[in-house]
Amino acid sequence: MTPAVKAMPAHGGTLVDRMLRGSLREAALERAQSMPKVFLTPMAVSDLELIAVGAFSPLTGFMTSDVYRTVLDDMRLPSGLAWTIPVALPVAKEKADTFKEGQEVALVERTSDGKENIMGLLELAEKYEYDKEKEAEKVYRTTDDAHPGVARLYRQGEMLLGGNIYLLNRPSEIEFPEFRHDPAQTRRLFAARGWRRIVAFQTRNPIHRAHEYIQKVAMEVVDGLFLHPLVGETKPDDIPADVRMESYQTILRDYYPADRVLLGVYPAAMRYAGPREAIFHAIARQNYGCTHFIVGRDHAGVKGYYGTYDAHYIFDEFLPHELFITPLFFDYAFYCRKCKAVVSAKTCPHGPEDHVFLSGTQVRQMLANGEPLPEEFTRPEVSRVLLQGMAHKRAEEAKKG
Ligand code: ADX
Repeated sequence: MTPAVKAMPAHGGTLVDRMLRGSLREAALERAQSMPKVFLTPMAVSDLELIAVGAFSPLTGFMTSDVYRTVLDDMRLPSGLAWTIPVALPVAKEKADTFKEGQEVALVERTSDGKENIMGLLELAEKYEYDKEKEAEKVYRTTDDAHPGVARLYRQGEMLLGGNIYLLNRPSEIEFPEFRHDPAQTRRLFAARGWRRIVAFQTRNPIHRAHEYIQKVAMEVVDGLFLHPLVGETKPDDIPADVRMESYQTILRDYYPADRVLLGVYPAAMRYAGPREAIFHAIARQNYGCTHFIVGRDHAGVKGYYGTYDAHYIFDEFLPHELFITPLFFDYAFYCRKCKAVVSAKTCPHGPEDHVFLSGTQVRQMLANGEPLPEEFTRPEVSRVLLQGMAHKRAEEAKKG
């Protein structure tokens, strides 16, 4: 008899499911017609869905003030469970003033054609004030509004709403439907493939050679790779998700064994919170059923706000048993002309003159100029997809004027 295979537990032990179905959903939609409304920002749309599908287990709703405070101060939920990023629902003060605690609130997405999509319900447990500068300092390690996460925080409402949620409808526009797998589905897909050890890779960029290298090194010691690009809100100068998705499919087709990789999209908004977001990303991927998580250079960082390995060091602030998922740390990887391979300072004896480094800004600049990216940096197939994709975007924007 084959022994029963144990799956990775969700963070906190139970995979959360806050989706209403059937007659319960119908009744809730009916009630929602007469509830006060909150219109959701793109990040709130993402957060709501991710709570509901269990990607943010054990959260069952937006955080109340006791939870918000322990997350900020201790990087833990009041239960002591690790959690690094606040997930509450910001609204303007005038709006919050119209709500009563204990009331149900409809959570509404405004669709691109101006319609209203009632996505969910909030059982409003609490509305509370918060200190944006403190949140910036704690979560982003800076109060500088040039940081995209801090800028978003400063723009959002002055009050936070907390309480349990239910999901009634998915977001109106589901991009990449064939790659959208909820945590319950990825768990089934991993089991069906017989994978026990699964490494997740978070990314908001096209796959370049260093990514491929660290993924493949990790793939040597696990059963499968879950390539899980974030496709929710990113900053405007990041490469758009549709162009990235094409580049992922291209590189997977040509350079990865199909039976060892699952591509799925992570519909979260990017916070750019560096170290704290690395833990948050890892916990979410545990909820998707992964056992390992890649953390490379400046994970979830932006514009030099974090040290290259700060997102590694933060894991030392947790005992190993606090996070079931195992981080796999990678040093800065790059191509070395002497080694003729992708290497890191751990494996290459040569100097910077032999190493090929390209910053994100340089890459964007080259793509904007229509220049192919150097082969040492990106596979030519990927470079072609990116050049075409970005040229197409520019043409579309020019048409719009
Ligand atoms: S992130 O914001 O999603 O972290 P990115 O897509 O650039 O950005 O990175 C995806 C993952 O690859 C992260 O874990 C990051 O640390 C890692 N990474 C990116 N570039 C390198 C590199 N040159 N060497 C090592 N790790 C890298």
